[in-house]
Amino acid sequence: MIPRPNDDNRIKIAPSILSADLSRLAEQVREVEAAGADRIHVDVMDGRFVPNITFGPVLVKWLRPATRLPLETHLMIHDPDAFLDAFAEAGSSSLIVHVEGAIHLDRTIQRIKGLGLKAGVAINPATPAVMLDEVLPGLDLVLVMTVNPGFGGQSFIRGTLRKLREVRRRIDEVNPACELEVDGGVDEKTAPELVEAGARVLVAGSSVYGSPDGPTAGLRRLAHSLGL
Ligand code: DX5
Ligand code: ZN
Repeated sequence: MIPRPNDDNRIKIAPSILSADLSRLAEQVREVEAAGADRIHVDVMDGRFVPNITFGPVLVKWLRPATRLPLETHLMIHDPDAFLDAFAEAGSSSLIVHVEGAIHLDRTIQRIKGLGLKAGVAINPATPAVMLDEVLPGLDLVLVMTVNPGFGGQSFIRGTLRKLREVRRRIDEVNPACELEVDGGVDEKTAPELVEAGARVLVAGSSVYGSPDGPTAGLRRLAHSLGL
């Protein structure tokens, strides 16, 4: 059953600006805000942890005044510690680091919280759920990657569903307030299965910003597929 709006546990949608028209980014962000998006997902890539390079803190700084929505910042970067302060200062609301990219994960999480931001941890498709166990009690969010990170528009990897269910179980056991998010290949076909498996926050890049009839229609289609 899909929880009803206003329920704490309600499904949230986080459009990823990776697929937006960056020549009019502020407008694109305001459009999804008006259409009911819950947060904006900012994909930061370093060309090392993933085979692509995208945005840095300066983009977050310019985006901050353009919307009231939280700016969720997904750090697909190796050894993220050196950049946490800069993203916090720029206006990120939450920072998500990768289990596979952080060297001292517990310290990194403590630093993010010390900056007053929400702390999230992401795991790649090849990483087992058990890698979250030691840090899960202190997390605000877990992000299960449903594609290999680096690019928008990839196909959902079905094998991640089993792990998603397992992460859901672990969260329910030790930290029920922790959000469970999925990222990669989320569209109106995959979203219902992902929610059924336990996801409560859905990142959506190409299904929103790549939608041929525009981001508002893309977002509405996605919400409709979930009965929202
Ligand atoms: C992929 C990024 C995603 C990306 C998702 O590495 O982390 O956030 O924008 O794009 P779609 O929704 O097109 O798969
Ligand atoms: Zn992402």
